[in-house]
Amino acid sequence: MDAMPTVELIRDALAKVIDPEIRRPITEIGMVRSVDLEGDLAVVGIDLTTQGCPMRERITTDVDAAARSVDGVADVRIELGVMSEEQRLELRSKLRGGKPEPVIQFTQPGNMTRIYAIASGKGGVGKSTVTANLAAAMAQDGLKVGVLDADIFGFSIPGMLGVQGQPTRLDDMLLPPIAHEVKAVSIGMFVPEGQPVVWRGPMLHRAIEQFLADVFWGDLDVLLLDLPPGTGDIAISVAQLLPHAEILVVTTPQAAAAGVAERAGAIATQTSQSVVGVVENMAWLEQADGSRLHVFGEGGGQTVADRLTKVLGTDVPVLGQVPLDITAREAGDNGTPVVVSDPESPAAEAMRAVARRLTARQRGLAGRSLGVTPVRK
Ligand SMILES: Nc1ncnc2c1ncn2[C@@H]1O[C@H](COP(=O)(O)OP(=O)(O)OP(=O)(O)O)[C@@H](O)[C@H]1O
Ligand SMILES: [Mg+2]
Repeated sequence: MDAMPTVELIRDALAKVIDPEIRRPITEIGMVRSVDLEGDLAVVGIDLTTQGCPMRERITTDVDAAARSVDGVADVRIELGVMSEEQRLELRSKLRGGKPEPVIQFTQPGNMTRIYAIASGKGGVGKSTVTANLAAAMAQDGLKVGVLDADIFGFSIPGMLGVQGQPTRLDDMLLPPIAHEVKAVSIGMFVPEGQPVVWRGPMLHRAIEQFLADVFWGDLDVLLLDLPPGTGDIAISVAQLLPHAEILVVTTPQAAAAGVAERAGAIATQTSQSVVGVVENMAWLEQADGSRLHVFGEGGGQTVADRLTKVLGTDVPVLGQVPLDITAREAGDNGTPVVVSDPESPAAEAMRAVARRLTARQRGLAGRSLGVTPVRK
């Protein structure tokens, strides 16, 4: 004899359906309006967050499969609706941890997210490539990772992570798209293609602030910010909004020789942010015979780390050297970071090693930001 399905069993099964954007069980976020049984037919009422919910199909499929997995359920009917304004308000407040207004969660007492701002004195050294790869590598290791593309004028994160489309709007809250298990937000998701962003200081500041406060990041282990080159308005805004963000300096051996990498580190002196370390990118090109061709010179990362150590008075280590690698460039162009597309390549291995050094460090110092955050705010 077939088991008798019950509404409770169906609800239990639905609790395993995770909203793909919010990443919480749909039963927890008020999406399951009703569950009924008509004989062996399960009738499930689902309220989507918004009318144009891009995840509509995925949720329908998952709900259908979950209800069907219950013994004795022969068929499923899903009645789709949309949350009322009141329901959405409640959901937003729930996602904000009970707070009705947007706040920057990362500066709240008790927030444990480690924040790294990827900076360089000079453009084109590989900040965005490093950001995208560290994010993807950390996500591969099971961490919850977010990337904020703070390069408002020269955004490249959507392209490098292969993120398509816009964040879903839940009124004044934005649900970030997720690619390679990384939540990512960029101004590039809002401006029409090919159109330049022509903003000045205050608007830039407001944009970064909104990305921090209005985006539903969830409980992140790590937030990475891809900064524009140099030490302009945006770097200062980030320092003001996230005083406990640590700076990761990217340099090439050549940029190191010109002394420009320190400029990025020097901002740390003004803002009393700390520099977590240096990544030397484009360090060498591996030859067919296994030897290394130092295209842009040698020892640059160490030079920058030594100079920053001296200027800042704290130990600034070289966290890794990433070789020049055609697969890394191609991977970036294709929207799949090399740590995902070609994990065995030398560049991928180097990126992963840097990611793990940062992660290991995170555990060791996990409790530290607790005391610092509220004081510095
Ligand atoms: N290790 C590497 N090997 C090969 N190509 C690389 C490597 N790192 C970065 N690149 C390529 O170099 C170019 C510049 O890199 P990227 O855009 O990451 O630099 P950036 O510092 O973010 O630049 P910008 O200052 O313009 O934001 C890209 O085409 C990227 O694919
Ligand atoms: Mg960049």
